[in-house]
Amino acid sequence: MTAIRSVGVVGCGLMGAGIAEVCARAGKDVVVVESSPAAADAGRQRLEASLKRAESRGKIEAAAPVLARIQVVEQLETLADRELVIEAIVEDEVAKTELFRRLDGILTDPEAILASNTSSIPIMKLGVVTSRPEHVLGIHFFNPVPVLALVELVPSLLTSPAVTERARAFVQDDLGKQAIDCQDRAGFVVNALLIPFILSAIRMLESGFATAEDIDRGLVLGAAHPQGPLALADLIGLDTTKAVAESLYEEFKEPLYAAPPLLARMVDAGLLGRKSGRGFYTYS
Ligand code: NAI
Repeated sequence: MTAIRSVGVVGCGLMGAGIAEVCARAGKDVVVVESSPAAADAGRQRLEASLKRAESRGKIEAAAPVLARIQVVEQLETLADRELVIEAIVEDEVAKTELFRRLDGILTDPEAILASNTSSIPIMKLGVVTSRPEHVLGIHFFNPVPVLALVELVPSLLTSPAVTERARAFVQDDLGKQAIDCQDRAGFVVNALLIPFILSAIRMLESGFATAEDIDRGLVLGAAHPQGPLALADLIGLDTTKAVAESLYEEFKEPLYAAPPLLARMVDAGLLGRKSGRGFYTYS
């Protein structure tokens, strides 16, 4: 099995920046693609801030050599020579299928792996728009990527077992993460359990049953969760939470996956959680 040395990441938001960071910290050569000059600048700043934080906390020796291994660009064609590309753009099936179609035409290495960090979109839908569905799989990281150890590995029905094993070696041996295997169903393991829990908390708030603070305090103090479900939704991003709920609902048609109106209205209002400065809580 050939080790992966060159990585491409598409999207340099919350997750893409984290994925680029852990790959560069593992010594990989990383190219990140963003959709506009402003988004690329924001991505570079996100990466720099995170690596400086890691340096000041003694998690890494120095930020500069890690940053030197990451290039943030705007042209998807720059990914042509990559051995692995991980897609981390918005949770939107149309946008992701369009991107996978383009990447399929750009990657020159016939063994290149095309991975998605999607939380809920079936991998098969991304695989079948390419000419190489056996090289497409889900590599689903958790937020914040440099901190959380878990990665869900999601082969589709058409993914070659050798590709899954190469991806497993990459995330476990190179990145030092722990992988669990999931079948290709919306939400995989963690989000299929976590999203209905978050939606229940939002319904509880919406019905006036308890305040956001009390709901979260209840789960932190009463169930030893590190943070409550509403604070967690703010961390994930309310747009992403809603998009994941919609994919789950689309797949299973179960009321427990339906996004409550309050979540939809908050997203309409641009209240997206931490990334916009306000969600269930306000952030400075
Ligand atoms: P985000 O909104 O923070 O970042 C998305 C980034 O993609 C933005 O910077 C945007 O400019 C960029 N982008 C959009 N279209 C693009 C294109 N065509 N080419 C290049 N860049 C493009 O979103 P986030 O939270 O990073 O989520 C990304 C993916 O990761 C989604 O599929 C989401 O479901 C998944 N995910 C999110 C988690 C979370 O906690 N937020 C956890 C695990 C997975």
